[in-house]
Amino acid sequence: MYGSLGCPRGYGRWWLKILAVGWMMLVMWVAVFIIHAQGEYDESTKSSTSAASSTVTSKDQSIYSNWSKSFLDYDTVYTNSSDVNFPLIVFTTVGRLGNCLNSYATALTFADRFNATIAVSQEIFLSISTLLAPQYLTLPVIASELVVDAYDMGVLETVTPDYIKDDMVSHLLPAIQNAISQYQQNHEQILYLLEGYPNRMKMLSGYHDKIRQNFRIRDDLKEKALLFLKNLRDQMSTKPTFIGFHIRRGDYLNFMETFFKCKIPNETFYLAALKYYRSRFPNAVFVVCSDDVEHMHKNLAGASDIIFSSMS
Ligand SMILES: *[C@@H]1O[C@H](CO)[C@@H](O)[C@H](O)[C@H]1NC(C)=O
Ligand SMILES: *[C@@H]1O[C@H](CO)[C@@H](O)[C@H](O)[C@H]1NC(C)=O
Ligand SMILES: *[C@@H]1O[C@H](CO)[C@@H](O)[C@H](O)[C@H]1NC(C)=O
Ligand SMILES: *[C@@H]1O[C@H](CO)[C@@H](O)[C@H](O)[C@H]1NC(C)=O
Repeated sequence: MYGSLGCPRGYGRWWLKILAVGWMMLVMWVAVFIIHAQGEYDESTKSSTSAASSTVTSKDQSIYSNWSKSFLDYDTVYTNSSDVNFPLIVFTTVGRLGNCLNSYATALTFADRFNATIAVSQEIFLSISTLLAPQYLTLPVIASELVVDAYDMGVLETVTPDYIKDDMVSHLLPAIQNAISQYQQNHEQILYLLEGYPNRMKMLSGYHDKIRQNFRIRDDLKEKALLFLKNLRDQMSTKPTFIGFHIRRGDYLNFMETFFKCKIPNETFYLAALKYYRSRFPNAVFVVCSDDVEHMHKNLAGASDIIFSSMS
């Protein structure tokens, strides 16, 4: 795929791979979301259609305030540590949604396998909760203040991947094993902060069911998407096959040119992709979303089987 987009092979910059994989994860999510939404269409038509939520914000606040109560804080961890099995291993990332999803999924692969508490940072939890229903997220969440507290007490240990070698995952298992053997030797209540961008899909194999149980799209978002698709369907004479089409631009325009030495897919690629899917699905209807709304409208206008998401 990269070859066909004219990108040189062997690009070696780790942060670009991170962005690329984070981006692909997001595209997969959108695609799965759309397909899933289509499957649930019939049930949804039986229920209320006035569901498109305008109360997302207040709902968010209520979700967060409910959950923030159960974030692990200083008291839970250091004065009443019965909830925590030291060492306390916390996955964290400064990446955005795609990277947060990957970090959480990777943390899940380690949970319940060791005599240790595997948790995620509050930042990861809040980020993925914009997409996922928080009540299914099973990993403990560390309050941001606790990281500061642990630092102040001198019990914070940060573990970074080998950024130079572009290896975001090989250090994880040894870090956890070392933490456990350290704890068994000295019983120091260390909080280990595992940083980076663990985006290796292979690592998730064998854990797909567990990840699916944790990762469930929020009802308010599903309802909104279903209503959007239902309204489209109601206007059509034949049953459409909805195909999600996400165009990621934004910071990618510069990143790809500067670091990958290539350009992101342009309208030539869009047309080829549309042609491919039209030939396979005679009733294809493309639902397009993008972080560059102007570009999306400019380059894809005119075809009756292309629908633009309202992006709201
Ligand atoms: C938050 O907690 C209150 C009281 O426990 C509950 O009534 C409400 O439904 C909860 N909200 C969410 C979004 O879980
Ligand atoms: C400590 O944690 C246990 C188990 O979660 C709980 O039953 C107990 O009430 C807690 N004690 C205090 C002082 O918070
Ligand atoms: C887990 O570690 C704790 C503390 O070191 C120890 O007391 C306990 O026996 C360990 N449990 C298992 C199953 O190894
Ligand atoms: C789109 O990109 C490809 C590959 O970089 C290039 O060959 C093609 O000329 C571009 N098309 C347009 C319309 O810019």
